[in-house]
Formats: sequence, structure tokens, C-alpha cells
Amino acid sequence: MRDTYARAEKIVSTLSTDDKIRLVSGKDAWTTEPVDEHGVPSILVTDGPHGVRKQASADDHIGINDAVPATCFPTAVTLGSTWDPDLIEEVGAALGRESRANDVSVLLGPGLNIKRHPAGGRNFEYFSEDPFLSGKMAAAMVRGIQSQGVGACLKHYAANNQEFFRMSVDTVVDNRTLRELYLTGFEIAVKESQPWTVMCSYNKVNGEHADISRDLLTDILRDEWGFDGLVMSDWFAVSDRALAICAGLDLEMPGSSGAWDAEVKAAHASGLLTTAELDLAATRVVDLALRAQNDTGSSQVDPAAHHELARRAAAAGTVLLTNDGILPLERTGSIAVVGSFAKKPRYQGAGSSLVTPTQVDTFIDALRAAVGDAATVHYAQGYDVATGETEEALLTEVREAARKADVVIVLAGLPDSYESEGFDRDHLRLPDGHIATIAAAAEANDRTVVALLNGAPIEMPWADGPAAIVEAYLGGQAGGAALADVILGDVAPGGRLAESFPVSASDVPADRDFARHPKQVQYREGLYVGYRFHDSAGVPARFPFGHGLTYTAFEQTGLTVRKTKEGYSVTVTVTNAGPRAGSEVVQVYVRDPESIAYRPEKELKGFAKVHLEPGTSQKVTVRLDRRAFAVWDIRAQEWRVEPGAFEILVGASSTDIRARRTVAVAEGEAVFPSHGPSAFVATDDEFRTMLGADIPEVPSVLPYHRDSTTEDLHETATGRAIAAIMTQEAGKQFDWEHADASTKRMFDANVRTAPLRQIAMSSESRLSLASLDRLIKLLNATSAKAWRARG
Ligand code: BGC
Repeated sequence: MRDTYARAEKIVSTLSTDDKIRLVSGKDAWTTEPVDEHGVPSILVTDGPHGVRKQASADDHIGINDAVPATCFPTAVTLGSTWDPDLIEEVGAALGRESRANDVSVLLGPGLNIKRHPAGGRNFEYFSEDPFLSGKMAAAMVRGIQSQGVGACLKHYAANNQEFFRMSVDTVVDNRTLRELYLTGFEIAVKESQPWTVMCSYNKVNGEHADISRDLLTDILRDEWGFDGLVMSDWFAVSDRALAICAGLDLEMPGSSGAWDAEVKAAHASGLLTTAELDLAATRVVDLALRAQNDTGSSQVDPAAHHELARRAAAAGTVLLTNDGILPLERTGSIAVVGSFAKKPRYQGAGSSLVTPTQVDTFIDALRAAVGDAATVHYAQGYDVATGETEEALLTEVREAARKADVVIVLAGLPDSYESEGFDRDHLRLPDGHIATIAAAAEANDRTVVALLNGAPIEMPWADGPAAIVEAYLGGQAGGAALADVILGDVAPGGRLAESFPVSASDVPADRDFARHPKQVQYREGLYVGYRFHDSAGVPARFPFGHGLTYTAFEQTGLTVRKTKEGYSVTVTVTNAGPRAGSEVVQVYVRDPESIAYRPEKELKGFAKVHLEPGTSQKVTVRLDRRAFAVWDIRAQEWRVEPGAFEILVGASSTDIRARRTVAVAEGEAVFPSHGPSAFVATDDEFRTMLGADIPEVPSVLPYHRDSTTEDLHETATGRAIAAIMTQEAGKQFDWEHADASTKRMFDANVRTAPLRQIAMSSESRLSLASLDRLIKLLNATSAKAWRARG
């Protein structure tokens, strides 16, 4: 047992019930309650994940106002594309140092939800569509942050894969899919990096809010995976504080000015909440605060060095999607740079992760500095940076600039207003103005390169037009310089896609039920997410998972697979047979050709990134343990391997398999048959079979309850009147004048979709939960009367 935990237990044993209840809720938006008489300090937590967002004002949790400056590292989508855990660990350590320098004890990240649909508004904050890759990257980030004596926080646990009504939607997902896709990343990260904290999500999972799920928070997280830290709520995610403590939710964040205290006391008095359960939660809060008082790590921050690290990480996560040989670019002649993003880059996403950067590199400045007098650089705006729209005059300018130039570089992508925490994207297209700008440039000059700044996949019907496409994602504050490094070949593009780019959103099975119904989302596609779908269905992605070109040519030869005590050791020789230095990612997939349980065509089970100078080779070994072959057995409720033949596929993307070997796995167990959706989206019957239960009814709006949303209130006349007052009140605290489009949209979504209980929780004691209940009763009475009157 940790020394701090033993001390925490002793301290808690001396506290009164009231004190313990006080302890298990935050003090305010970002800090915990102290226990002064025992020297237990109040500690500070902040967002995360790709930079320290220490908010200047204590009550601003969605980042409307500026935070203290900190390095804005590349967002998780870019970091995920590096496939380089060592580099992520380095970034994590830098985040840890900046946290320490700002007296931050826990950094709220990494986020590792699975990208179930490319339109997920917060996909930029997550690593991948694949749980193995997500788990490995998250573990590396946690190790890095915690190496500096600062806690990390895995979020958002669990099955929070859309923003639409994220605070109340019920994710209906079968047990096998939950385990194999949505929990595995968390499991890997917990087991491999022992994070200090985990954050539960807002949503419900199979009918139960995550904060009160004993199954998720205790049975799986602690008893099965061995998590020994603290679980905190997402901000205002607590749906029932007493039940949440029973379930294993230790800390309510932010504090709710004692909104729940009376109910927690009553639950304790009635025996529903035991003293042991309350003590456990309080002990973990004290333990966390004591753990944070260490002298590990450093608080010395060299902003210039961190900026350089951010630049290196951005280039390492930049994915070269297509290239007819135009890249790397010669530094001669005239270069037309097109698109407002070249001067006003999009380099991070909106919402709680928004960092106030220490500096921002723009692509055009970086390019000009790098080419010096060797080339001339002209600029044409192309489109409006905020709206993404264009007009004829701007397009004429683009055509003229493109015609005169030897080469054109168009920066396009998604404006802030398109992707953010709080809402999902309505479609996967670029703004019309960006598409028109690309078309104008490419028609005027066939030496046109498109560089994309966006946080998630887009549809690219125009992909055959440009001579090269570079996916730079949201590269953080040094993203502009990193893009110039890559385009000029000073650094080889190091990224490989950690997600599939579908040809069209309608190809994606999850599209049938994504961000559609406020109350429920059904994961009828089961395991068929991302490449698991594309490769099983034979529906090609435009750019497959794992894809990424570079400026040299790699060979993977001499595959050998050796049986070891733990499983198999897979070895391949990687040779850089091309003219330049670069890096290759060896990807190891496992395929089960015959299985009693339905399985995707192949699944990623190992990878390794190597950097090689031209003409050199390196042997790369990837180890596969038993789990690499296992499925979640829905009857035994454990991981089981069905003995028989398995194929081990090694290659450079999920569709670029260079070699394969078949192994006969002898040890294993009988696996219970499980059936998936035969046509990739389950029919009612198939979904019932997957769930092992009836498909739950969509919860009705009436009668109202604490989980009803402001939007629900619109069902009745009195409700509408109250909703209008609430929206107006919330709006008063909002800085409409200075907020940008995405912040406004996020604010709107938050107000519409927040459960009523949050009003009491955030009211600073002005509205108690008991008063809220009376109000709800009144609303229900008037709606019943109205209903009767309607006859
Ligand atoms: C987000 C979390 C974040 C928290 C605090 C929530 O709305 O979902 O990711 O850490 O706010 O800002």
C-alpha cells in the first residue's frame, strides 16, 4: 500500500461524517477541499489534454476566457498519428513540467474515447478509432505527465463517443463491443501506466449514468484492472451523489456548494451509503492531495524548448496522404500560398481543451523564413477564416496567383465553428469556400499541393485534383512551422492515420444512429467501427487506417514468427531503400480465419516505429501476448482464446499487408458463440441477440425529472416559459461580444442539453435540489392538466 494512502486512511478515521461529505466534493471549479488541521492541502486540477489550461477566472469551466499562457502541443489526433509512444511520453513530461510550474497537481487528460464516427465533435481530442493504439498512446502520455510528479486523468470513461446530448444520452451497446472496443483502451492505459485519476463521462451506458455505475467504476476499473487511484466526475456529471459514492465515484467536480449534502447525509443515515463507502471516497481524495506533495520532477520550463518539441511532434504526426512526386518542394521559383489558414492557422480545437499559447507559428512566415531569397512567396486569401465561405473576387485572386506561380500550396480544412466540444459535425464536407478555393487553384495550376488543418476526417471527392495532399491535422502552436518543415523536406512526414477516412459518411455503419436522438444512441454496428468495418465489408476507405506516405521507400522483409512463453514474437527487417531519411511504422494485425464468435477481418495488436537513414536496415520485433488472440466471452465474462489457426499480418497500413504467417494456437478454451450484425448494422433481431435483452425503449420526455433537459421543457407551455428564463439567465454570464462562433454554438448546446439538476448544482445554493424537485412536480402537474384538458 502507498504510504500516502495509509496516512490518508488514518486522517479520514478522525474526521466527522460532515467533514467527509465535504471532502468528496470539490471546493470550487478547479480545486479540492483541504483538511487544514492535518496539513492536507487543497490541490488544483486543470485541463488538458494537450496543454495546461489554467483558467484565470475560477468559474469559467468551458474556456470562454483566456487562460495563463502555456505551450499548446499538437492535439491528440495529431499525437495519435505519430504512432510513437516515446515521443508522446516526452510531450507528457513537458506537460508535467508546465503543470508543476503552474502549481497544477492533476492535468485532465489524456482523452481516449474511440472515434466511433468521423463526425464526432471532439474527435480531435482523442487518439484513434482503434482501442489498442489509443491505449498505448494514452499510457505513454500518462507515464510522461506522471514522471514529473503530477497526476494524469484518463477521460471520459466510458462509451462517450458523441457530443450530441452528451450529458444525458443513453449509449446502448452490447457487452462484447463495450469490452473489445470501448473499454480496452482504458484497460491498457490503466494497467500500463497506473494513472492517478480517471474521469467518468456524462452519458448513460445501458440505462445507467456512468457516475453511478458500480460495474464500470469499481468492478471493472478497480477489481479487474487494478486501478488504485481516484475517480472524479466530469464537470457536473454527478446524477446522484449518494449512489455515485456507493458506485466508486470518489470526487464530485466541480464543487456544487453542498447541493447534494442533505441527500448524502440521509443516505448515510438510512444505511444506503455505508460508512466504509464514504470513508473510501474521502480517503482517496486525501491520498490524491498527499500524493501531489512530492518532489519528483521539475518545474523548470524552457518555453523555447517546449515549442521545439511541439514542432517535432507536429511533424511526426503529419500524414502525407498523396504525392505525385511534387513533395518535398524545391526551394526555387515562385510559390503561391493560398488560404487564410496560412496566416491565421487553426491549430487546436474549441472547448475545455483550449490553450492560450505562448506563441503561434504561421505557415507563411515559416515558409518565407525557410526559403529566404531562393524563392518568392505570394499570398492569396481564398476564403474567410471564420466562416470558410468565399466569393468570386477572392477566387479570381486565387486563380491569378496560381497561374503565375511555379507551385501552389493551399491551406484548407475546418473552421473553428465546424468542430468543437459540445456539438458534432453536421456532415464531413469541407466548407464550400475551401472546396472552391482548392478547385480554383488546382484548375489554374496542376502543381498544387493541399495541406489540411482539421481535427477529424473529411470527405474528399476532390482528392484526385491536387498533386499532393498533406493532412497536418491540428498541430498545436508550432504546427505552421512543422508543416513548412515537412513540405520542404527538412523533416520527413512521420504520421500514419490513426483513423480511416471514409469516401462518404454514409459508408460508415454508425451513421445510421449517430447524434440523432437526444435520449438514446444504439451501437448497432457492434465491432464494425473504422477499419474493422472497411476491411470486413470490402468497402474501401478513401485513405485507410495506418496509411501514410513519406519521402523515401521502405521494405519490410524476412518475417519470422516465433512461439514464446507469453505468446509470439514477430520479427521483420525494415530497410530504407529510398534516397532520404524517414520513419516507418510496422503494423501487426491478427486475423482469425475461423471463429465461433463473429470477428472483424483483422485487428491491430502491435506496432513499432523506426527511424532509418537511407540504405540502412533494422530488425523490428513486436510481441503478441495471449490477449492478442482473445475475444470477450459473453457468457464466461472473461477473455478467451479459441484454439486453432490464426494469421499474423504485417504491413504498412490495414490494407497494405506485406507478409503473413499462420500460427496454430493450441492453448485456449471453448468460446461462447456471439453473433454480430450480418450486414454491418444489426437488425432488431440481431441487436436483441447482441444485447442478450430487449432493445430498451427510448425514454419518454414526460414526466419531467432531474435528468430532463432544458430542451425537454419545450414540450409544455410552462416548461417553455421556464426554459426561456433559464436560457436568459445563463446567457447573462456569457460574453457574447467577444466569443467566437464555436464558443457560442457550444454554449447554446450546453444550455439546451444540460440536465435540470445541473441548475441546482451550479446555482451556488440559490436553488436547492429540493426546490428543483418542487418545480419539476409543478411542471408535471401543469403538463398533466394540459394533457387532460386536451382530452
Ligand atoms: C469536459 C472535460 C473537462 C471538464 C473541465 C468538461 O465539460 O468534458 O473534458 O475536463 O469539462 O473543463
